[in-house]
Amino acid sequence: MFDNSTFFVTTFGCQMNKHDSERIAGLLESLGSVPVDSLDDADFAIYMTCCVRERADERLLGQVRSMKNLPVRPSSPYGKRFVAIGGCIGQRDGDGLFDALPNVDVVFGTHNMEDLPRLLQDAIESGSQRASIIDGRAEFHDELPEDREHPWAAWLPITVGCNNFCTYCIVPYVRGREISRPIEEIAQSAREYVVHGVKEITLLGQNVNSYGRDLYGRPRFDDVLDAVSASGVERIRFATSHPKDLTDGVIERFATLPNLMPALHLPVQSGSNRILTKMNRNYTVEQYLGLIEKLRRIRPGIALSTDIIVGFPGESEKDFQATYDLVERVGYSQVFTFIYSKRAGTPAAEMPDDAPHEVVQERFQRLVDLVQDSAYDVNQSDVGLTLPVLIEGESKRGRGLMSGKSPKNQTVLVDVPGDGAIGDYAGTIVDASITEARRWYLKGSIA
Ligand code: 5AD
Ligand code: SF4
Repeated sequence: MFDNSTFFVTTFGCQMNKHDSERIAGLLESLGSVPVDSLDDADFAIYMTCCVRERADERLLGQVRSMKNLPVRPSSPYGKRFVAIGGCIGQRDGDGLFDALPNVDVVFGTHNMEDLPRLLQDAIESGSQRASIIDGRAEFHDELPEDREHPWAAWLPITVGCNNFCTYCIVPYVRGREISRPIEEIAQSAREYVVHGVKEITLLGQNVNSYGRDLYGRPRFDDVLDAVSASGVERIRFATSHPKDLTDGVIERFATLPNLMPALHLPVQSGSNRILTKMNRNYTVEQYLGLIEKLRRIRPGIALSTDIIVGFPGESEKDFQATYDLVERVGYSQVFTFIYSKRAGTPAAEMPDDAPHEVVQERFQRLVDLVQDSAYDVNQSDVGLTLPVLIEGESKRGRGLMSGKSPKNQTVLVDVPGDGAIGDYAGTIVDASITEARRWYLKGSIA
């Protein structure tokens, strides 16, 4: 269908979007289009977008606008570059994007990835008669091929959508209600991945802990973990977990399943109960700390990461201080910090918001400083240990170094042994003795 054409996919946002991009790439490749490394060489410029925060909106607008000046590839079969926007912004703005960005040819929603080839074909045939489809139908498109970044690592969506309606969040409006993928299908995919050499599976969902509430027999997330573990895959991870739905059953799996990696991303968002209520998070700081205690009892040394929003409407200095104290107390391996950004249509957008920008910025900086110190301290406990590292490839930090991931998901830089080539190691797990720990990485050599 698209022989002699080329494409480039730009991804904004979360792992779910990255996974969707891999499927778009797989789909276009299966139709004869060739992936290229830069926009300059692409006939199809595909954007998989995120609208969770304002910055992604701004980046998309900036990038697509500036593309007008980019020359068309000389050997393009169409004599034109086609621009397609999908993902959350496509879903949210629909045809409105054609007004904001006149050089856009195709808009598609979060449930319409498989429609992209047809839409592109329509645009080619009509020389860009703007084509769009935003369909509310939500189901799993597990039949789409995918072009994975690393052949040994796979993302496996187990739910799509979200039923939680945190008051700041746009996701439930653009991704729709939560739908779970049947457990047999998940287990089948996991087994197939293992047969194809996949070593690490990351289960994905906006809130994996509420898995199965819409399915017959109401299987739970711990059942999914058991089923995926039984595939024999070496490493299992999952994201994201909502604290209100994290059950003892799931926590116990960190002790009983040897292939479930000792790392958990558990977004807390705020350390103030007053703000948590306004966010509609449905847990208290005390309940959250209770989960952390249980996790650490069951799996000592487990790496914990979180998301924090600074500057939620009405946040006082006291509220912020409570967040700061919580971060200090938990000792996270990693904290993703966000400045609150107003999303039209969400309840928080209507809440009075009077904190001056400089105040929020200053709080944000204080938190970032703390997080960096905490990451450094937490990493020190691994110096002197021997850790299994899944090697990904050459490190960006220097020749002669390979980069990989520890069980706790830390980046580990490993010396390439004198007689080895990095290619021999990529996708394998090596034992590395850790000699040095920094904020964002560990260093070691093959044990
Ligand atoms: N403003 C700032 N941060 C947000 N997040 C979600 N919505 C917003 C918003 N409107 C953050 C939350 C979430 C992460 C993926 O993005 O912390 O966990
Ligand atoms: Fe957004 Fe809350 Fe759902 Fe996460 S759980 S996607 S923050 S509404």
